[in-house]
Amino acid sequence: MSGCEATALETNAEERARAGLKRGADTLDARGEADVLRRLNGGMFMVPRRLIAANAWLGHIPFAGWLVEVARPRILVELGVHRGASYFAFCQAVQESGVRAFCYGVDTWRGDKHAGEYGEDVYQDVVAYNARHYVDFSALLRCDFDEALAQFEDGTIDVLHIDGLHTYDAVRHDFLAWKRKLSPRGVVLFHDTVCRHLDFGVWRFWREISAEYPSFEFRHSYGLGVLLVGEEPASALAEIAACTEERRIHLDRLFAALGARIVALAEVAQREAEAAAAARRFEDAEEGRRLAQARCEALEASLQERTRRIAALQAEMAAAGEAASAASAAVAVAEREAALALVQERDAALAMCERALADVHRSHSWRITAPLRAASRWLRGLT
Ligand SMILES: C[S@@+](CC[C@H](N)C(=O)[O-])C[C@H]1O[C@@H](n2cnc3c(N)ncnc32)[C@H](O)[C@@H]1O
Repeated sequence: MSGCEATALETNAEERARAGLKRGADTLDARGEADVLRRLNGGMFMVPRRLIAANAWLGHIPFAGWLVEVARPRILVELGVHRGASYFAFCQAVQESGVRAFCYGVDTWRGDKHAGEYGEDVYQDVVAYNARHYVDFSALLRCDFDEALAQFEDGTIDVLHIDGLHTYDAVRHDFLAWKRKLSPRGVVLFHDTVCRHLDFGVWRFWREISAEYPSFEFRHSYGLGVLLVGEEPASALAEIAACTEERRIHLDRLFAALGARIVALAEVAQREAEAAAAARRFEDAEEGRRLAQARCEALEASLQERTRRIAALQAEMAAAGEAASAASAAVAVAEREAALALVQERDAALAMCERALADVHRSHSWRITAPLRAASRWLRGLT
């Protein structure tokens, strides 16, 4: 299924859901109970752009979208932004609804003992995202919540979301410190009102404070308390706070179902991102394999060339060896023949001498001088 088809199906599903809810609202209206359901707005069907997987706030995004359209805040403040799952949902709702609000996100972006400590990259990412999408009406204040108080006039904040450290003392402190900043229509949201593990204490503070002001609570996604602190809350909020427990359950289920859809969308997006990352890793590995194979083939070709060259050199060496031994044999033959010729030459010279000597012995003068030579020998014998 293509992305367009998926979007079309989603839109149809949304339209069907709206039509169904509207029919339900009309039916209830006939019984005089539909005031809340008649308050349906587009904000509750908003699909967040920034889907942070496994985030505890995801399930409340439909309510955030709905609330912005209903409360129409001029100033919205969030205490505890972290990666911006809730904060950027508020910003997107402001942008898509056209409500003229200015939003402030306050955080040290250092983390706390419940959220855990995290690195500078989280802040850089949030700043970049804010600059890309919402810089016209959203400012990030990097400081302690108490330090940020001085930035706001008393009685000016219409929506305050408290989502910092979740101990009883911290949430009580944050509420009491910021209470005077709320406008007459001011509404405060508390996240994690049903969470009881470790030293989470929002549930305990919520039990106390919700007895003092009109309020209602969603129990899905770790709980979200909605406290109407101002004396002039938006009428839809006042109606919900005043309605029966039975109808509040319906409302809870409605927003829980819409929230579950956002959680599911985030899971799908995460799976898709993981699949895309796995596909990229596979592509990289495949490319690596292709390169290694090409290198192997090149090495194989080079090896064959060397083997061929070694064989050629060996053949050349063998041929050279044969030529060398043939040459040394020829030299030996020549030397022997030269020596033989020399011997023959000497033999011939000797023979010639002997012949000459014999000729001398046979000559006439030699014979005449024979007595002289004999006398000479005799005289030498006497001396
Ligand atoms: C639970 S997280 C916020 C979750 C966020 N609303 C979301 O949608 O994911 C709490 C954040 O509050 C911040 N924080 C806690 N106490 C703070 C304080 N006193 N001043 C400033 N920031 C604080 C932490 O740094 C952390 O990022």
